[in-house]
Amino acid sequence: MSERLYIFDTTLRDGEQVPGCQLNTVEKIQVARQLEALGVDVIEAGFPISSPGDFKSVVEISKAVTWPTICALTRAIEKDIDVAAQALEYAKHKRIHTGIGTSEQHIRYKFNSTPEEIIERAVAAVKYAKKYVEDVEFYAEDAGRTDNEYLARVIDAVTKAGATVCNIPDTTGFRLPGEYEAKIRYLYEHVDAFAAGKSILSTHCHNDLGMATANTIAGVLGGARQVEVTVNGIGERAGNTSLEEVVMILKTHPDIGIDTNINTTKIWATSRMVSSLMNMPVQPNKAVVGRNAFAHSSGIHQDGVLKNASTYEIMDPKAVGIDDNAIVLTARSGRAALKHRLHVNGVDVEDKRLDAIYEDFLRLADKKKEVTDDDILMLAGADRATAHNVKLDYLQVTTGKGVKSVASMGLDIAGEKFEACASGNGPVDAAIKALKNIIRRQMTLKEFTIQAISKGSDDVGKVHMQVEYDGQAYYGFGANTDIVTASVEAYIDCINKFRH
Ligand code: KIV
Ligand code: ZN
Repeated sequence: MSERLYIFDTTLRDGEQVPGCQLNTVEKIQVARQLEALGVDVIEAGFPISSPGDFKSVVEISKAVTWPTICALTRAIEKDIDVAAQALEYAKHKRIHTGIGTSEQHIRYKFNSTPEEIIERAVAAVKYAKKYVEDVEFYAEDAGRTDNEYLARVIDAVTKAGATVCNIPDTTGFRLPGEYEAKIRYLYEHVDAFAAGKSILSTHCHNDLGMATANTIAGVLGGARQVEVTVNGIGERAGNTSLEEVVMILKTHPDIGIDTNINTTKIWATSRMVSSLMNMPVQPNKAVVGRNAFAHSSGIHQDGVLKNASTYEIMDPKAVGIDDNAIVLTARSGRAALKHRLHVNGVDVEDKRLDAIYEDFLRLADKKKEVTDDDILMLAGADRATAHNVKLDYLQVTTGKGVKSVASMGLDIAGEKFEACASGNGPVDAAIKALKNIIRRQMTLKEFTIQAISKGSDDVGKVHMQVEYDGQAYYGFGANTDIVTASVEAYIDCINKFRH
């Protein structure tokens, strides 16, 4: 009989901390419902004291999902815990995740404290959280760099105070897999609560040195029975452990004897949904969910796979939900085909929204021979812009070698029409100058990246921008076969996010 491993998903908390990936509450609910369908055990929905937006998201996600436990993060501070408990009011199953830094660096430089005082604060926070909820998880931040003997004292104390889960984060992504496994095993062997079944150990690994998944699996081998992961491995810096990698490693290695509750056939759709809503492309060669993860291009491999898939494939693409009967969409495809492809990619739309996406799809299909899944996900995301205050009505640019680029543009601002033109150093510069002639604010473009989604000169260009306004950085996104239009749309996306 396999042992059960709990999947704690932190896409909406640690994953969402990535600059430019912030979701609004409606989008977070969409992701939370998908995570529920995927079968995760715990959804870390946010850090309620950090902002009113995070507080609201925890409240709304608590109402929207039924069976996963909803978890809220806090520091080891009473006010944080009060606010988290309030945000979790509607959750059917609730958990408070509280903790404090335990490494020498954190104790000395962050808290200007002593090891003994940190234990007292950790215990006090767990006891305080227990007044509100039965299920309290403790995290020892920077446990990866914390001395094992001291860490065992901290963990022993918090389990005695009632911590039901103990999270051992490798916050800086520093540990080697063998070292992380030894740390987890040391804790399992030196803290009575684990063998007694009163608490479980959890991994929480970061990918700074590309070892997050290896460390997580090592932690499981060492005795952890919960893993903290994100979809597509998104997260600050190099990211967190990716959910799909851990789940598929355990599935393809039944000899490890560990099972999860994940319905793996929903992995692909979940990955696409998160990538599209967060405007965070998945690298093509990413394990399990990259576009090329199952694409065999060498003649020898293709020949082998056609004779028998097991020659070069260790996983069946269908097991992760890749539908190999993918219909290629063209200008002749109807609404039903579009709806089906959206559904396969995790986006379910009602008829009115489908009509709007279909219009955009036809315009794109006129420009491209084949419309890919990435394209339609972009279209499904792009239609969110219709709710925005500032919209691009038209854009015309003349450019070329030996001539000055000139742009003329029309904007619709809350129903009122504005027009302007400008010349510039290249087509994007001219278009943005025209935009600034209408929207006269002190805005500075800080970052600008253009990326092709797949291949071909008719491809859709995705533009990510960072614009600084009133001391604040705003992130915007645009996608179009015309990269100048995509750039202007990304700039407008930033403007639509300005707080005033
Ligand atoms: O990486 C980390 O240490 C964390 C904790 C706050 C759980 O995300
Ligand atoms: Zn983290």
